[in-house]
Amino acid sequence: MNKKILIAPSILTVDYMHLEEEIKKIENSDINYWHLDIMDGHFVPQISFGQSIVKLLKKNTRLPIEAHLMVSNPEIQALSFLKIGIERVIVHIESIKDPTFLINKTHNMNKEFGLAINPDTSISDIEPFLSKIDQVTIMSVNPGEGGQSMIMQSLDKIKYLIEISKKNKNQFNIEIDGGVKIENLHSCIESGANMLVMGSSIFNQDLDRDKTITKIRMKIDNIQNLTGDANN
Ligand code: DX5
Ligand code: ZN
Repeated sequence: MNKKILIAPSILTVDYMHLEEEIKKIENSDINYWHLDIMDGHFVPQISFGQSIVKLLKKNTRLPIEAHLMVSNPEIQALSFLKIGIERVIVHIESIKDPTFLINKTHNMNKEFGLAINPDTSISDIEPFLSKIDQVTIMSVNPGEGGQSMIMQSLDKIKYLIEISKKNKNQFNIEIDGGVKIENLHSCIESGANMLVMGSSIFNQDLDRDKTITKIRMKIDNIQNLTGDANN
């Protein structure tokens, strides 16, 4: 059986005047996680939103939430987001020397820990931690903005990770983040990603949101039927 491909909408490029409506529109569609992009104006030039928006969303959703921390010194931030009750924090390997303490702390809170890796960073930087984490988030754009085009070379990293994970007893999610859209779903899935962050391709177009998700899900099903279960 094909493994379930998870869809994680990012609200980064949503029209914030209509945040509640936008969330309600797809809350009951076939999506699996909210992907919240936290930017501090230091690790990346932009500032997005913080704890208060995350708390609001947590109160108003049935779905699990992951916070993608594009912040310097992520230790304090990570714990404060976890205390809100979100299910997973994702920390950039470029922002932390040794995430072991934070990984343990997260697991002690019964929450999940992911490591994100920028397009120019080598997988070898995260290899020592792969046996301890729940997710790798492969950045397929340089972090900081929604709506960018995918850097296709990032898919090679996913293929490489799949090879490593075969030898690894700890099975982690492989998420791709940045520029994922209908046109490149095939490449993403074929490379082995099982979790897709999608921002502008859901929220920045005229099509009805629920129809957009249905279209994406149908495309994923078609791709999986065509390619079989090559990555299992
Ligand atoms: C980029 C963020 C992404 C991004 C996704 O720094 O981490 O999550 O907003 O948006 P799209 O799908 O528009 O690339
Ligand atoms: Zn993100």
